Amino acid sequence: MTSRARTDLSRYRADFPALTMKQDDRPLVFFDNPGGTQVSLAVAEAMQRYLLTANANVHGPFLTSRRTDVVLEEAHAAMADLLNASGPDEIVFGQNMTSLTFAFARSLGREMGAGDEIVVTTLDHDANIAPWLALQERGVVVRCADIDPADCTLDYANLHGLINERTKLVAVGLASNAVGTINDVRQVVRMAREVGALVYVDAVQAVPHFPVDVQALGCDFLACSAYKFFGPHQGIVWGKREHLERLTAYKVRPASNELPSKWETGTQSHEGQAGTLAAVNYLASVGRDHMEHYQDELKLLDGRRAELRAAMLAIRDYEQTLSRHFLAGMQTVPELTLYGIADPQRVAERVPTFAVTVPTWTPQQLSAALAERGFATWAGHYYALALVERLGRLEGGGMLRIGCAHYNTAAELDDLFAALQEIVTINPS
Ligand SMILES: Cc1ncc(COP(=O)(O)O)c(C=O)c1O
Repeated sequence: MTSRARTDLSRYRADFPALTMKQDDRPLVFFDNPGGTQVSLAVAEAMQRYLLTANANVHGPFLTSRRTDVVLEEAHAAMADLLNASGPDEIVFGQNMTSLTFAFARSLGREMGAGDEIVVTTLDHDANIAPWLALQERGVVVRCADIDPADCTLDYANLHGLINERTKLVAVGLASNAVGTINDVRQVVRMAREVGALVYVDAVQAVPHFPVDVQALGCDFLACSAYKFFGPHQGIVWGKREHLERLTAYKVRPASNELPSKWETGTQSHEGQAGTLAAVNYLASVGRDHMEHYQDELKLLDGRRAELRAAMLAIRDYEQTLSRHFLAGMQTVPELTLYGIADPQRVAERVPTFAVTVPTWTPQQLSAALAERGFATWAGHYYALALVERLGRLEGGGMLRIGCAHYNTAAELDDLFAALQEIVTINPS
């Protein structure tokens, strides 16, 4: 085993007060991470500090307003570092990924007309499908790329076949919120560029798990959500400056035309940005402990960008050990069916998010039985509607989703599989 594979991140559990919670004297175990992660203490403290010492509207001459301006500037800079953006003005904060994506789709739609086409994928969360479907009212045609149902990977040949001279935009996820597949977005960008189409990436389920670099991906927009990466409920979109400048934003007339204010409609959640800044700085602190392991991969980066990359590489490597552990655990409960990449040799192609079913139990019954035993999981389609429909699981209540974050441990997975072994021997009531 390499030193990287041994990377143990359990020491960071101490940063997350929620991980000490108990239910009936048993520790609560959080496998609901794709639905939302726990926050580090620093995040909660930063939000409290903002509200108690800096709470004001922006651009005033007085102390709290000046403090607010500083927090918001720092939050934009932190997100620019996390995503490797060209600058903080390419970072747009908003209510959540879904609302921001509807806003960008509406603005991008102004450049499209009847007969223009958009390609979405079956693997995506509906937040990267419905906003594009809404442009059908302008006569835009939306086509949906298929998956290989055997392992829930994108069918790239099918996707390529849907792209043509009329394609104006491809909307694709970086990692699936349901089955964990990581998509080859660079390949999708190459396909889109053949016809000059833009690429809008949903990275909500990628940012908590591995380095996300908008320059390396080569995309045009990339959306994520801080509550999925240990921060508060807060949406973020990175957009290439040329697009953010060119496109018309739906905004009130007195609001600034400067970037990024033009896109940040209304009064923002300042405390949310304070918390997001703290979440990014938490990740940077993880990275500082791992810089020496990843020297080769940190070339050309310095300061917080290097720290964040080291953090996300360490998290990726540690989570791959969790994925392998999960896939080995599957063998101990033969009643379980896994949807998605099951080969332990292929854990680099997935994030540690697993969708499973058991023949005699509905996913909802399973999730409830696990909840009684202190495990937080989700059942249903989790808005990955097209995928769950494609897998023929909509009628049966979807799947049970078990999603790890870097604060989960192999011991927690052992406890989960022990609980599942016990549950499947019972007849559901
Ligand atoms: C892949 C993916 N995209 C988009 C969203 C929506 O994000 P938000 O809740 O910030 O609107 C989610 C939320 O679960 C998600 O998992």
